[in-house]
Amino acid sequence: MIVAIDGPAASGKSTVAKTVARRLGYHYLDTGAMYRAIAALAIRREVDLHDADALAELAANEPVTFSYEAGDPVQSAVWVSGLDVTVAIRTPEVDAAVSLVARVPEVRTAMVAQQRRLAGGDNAVVEGRDIGTVVFPDAEMKLYLTASAEERARRRHYELSDAGHAVESSTVREGLDRRDAVDSQREASPLAVADDAIKLDTTGMSIEEVAQRVVELVRGVR
Ligand code: DC
Repeated sequence: MIVAIDGPAASGKSTVAKTVARRLGYHYLDTGAMYRAIAALAIRREVDLHDADALAELAANEPVTFSYEAGDPVQSAVWVSGLDVTVAIRTPEVDAAVSLVARVPEVRTAMVAQQRRLAGGDNAVVEGRDIGTVVFPDAEMKLYLTASAEERARRRHYELSDAGHAVESSTVREGLDRRDAVDSQREASPLAVADDAIKLDTTGMSIEEVAQRVVELVRGVR
């Protein structure tokens, strides 16, 4: 069974998806980490982020892989081109670059093929922006998580500060707004709610409350 979890940046998707995967014993696939890995590699190789062909070539030739600790469905590391990019993909620099990478149709084609290979045919919680609409349109459970813009900015600011990046909250809010705009307005599989997705507004809810609700929903259909 595939549990597809989509939604905008900092809507709580990742934490909820990881918690749910661990609780159900399902695989977990963080598709945003894959776009981030290509963005980190592009920055490292000084590829022009507006050069769609160069980004497409990178995505087609450099598969993104995950490694795991025994018994944990959540990845412990993210790899691309022999590099451990686990930390590099969570920097403000990659935050700013990744939507430019994710809007290139050929990059998306390469990522979607890898995502289907990594999670298809198994019990998995897959999170991203186009999981219920494009990657796994037949997923048995589709969720779309949202939260108010203020709450999302607060959560992302906390995450960045926690990782040691000193950024102003107004800068975080602007960055999120910019990224959401690119992600929702791009031509290639924009962020959208699947017709058959259950929408959950997580504003004011704890991670535990959201995770519990999702686990109940999944148990209800399997
Ligand atoms: O979920 P995240 O913040 O790690 O996602 C990083 C970027 O990748 C974000 O700009 C949206 C994009 N993305 C996408 O276009 N499609 C996905 N399935 C997952 C992420």
